[in-house]
Amino acid sequence: MIAIYPGSFDPITLGHLDIIERGAKLFEQVIVAVLCNPSKSPLFSVETRIEQIRESTQHLRNIEVDSFTGLTVEYAKSRQASVLLRGLRVLSDFEKELQMAHTNQTLWDGIETVFLATTKEYSFLSSSIVKEIAQFGGTIDHLVPENIARDIYVYYS
Ligand code: PNS
Repeated sequence: MIAIYPGSFDPITLGHLDIIERGAKLFEQVIVAVLCNPSKSPLFSVETRIEQIRESTQHLRNIEVDSFTGLTVEYAKSRQASVLLRGLRVLSDFEKELQMAHTNQTLWDGIETVFLATTKEYSFLSSSIVKEIAQFGGTIDHLVPENIARDIYVYYS
């Protein structure tokens, strides 16, 4: 079974990586799909994010990194994927995630969303938190893969 792990990944955090590593054990293939969202102004370009995720997931055999535009379910269909993988951190994630899962199901009933509970130590972690800390000169080495920390320090130097 092929699973899509869609997201913004601006940047990928250790919380995302935890979901990818665990997803890789559950599914034949996990496609990490970076959304090209023209209405957002990201820290890193889609191309850079793809490179960053590829480098952080080098140790995993069944991971592909790609980007997509438009609807996630249409992308899933085009990749013959029947599962959307998402992480759930805290209760406040649940409302948005459930809305997305239900919406996606109405768009294509061939899709199932599978939620993994984020590992406890990363339950507070988000890409926005990482950017906020880095912006004010804080340490982010414990929050993101090594290559990402390096890129972020360069960005804010
Ligand atoms: O990392 P994020 O920003 O929480 O990921 C959100 C994402 C990319 C999964 C979601 O915004 C999405 O699927 N966008 C694509 C547009 C779409 O399919 N919308 C309908 C389902 S809500």
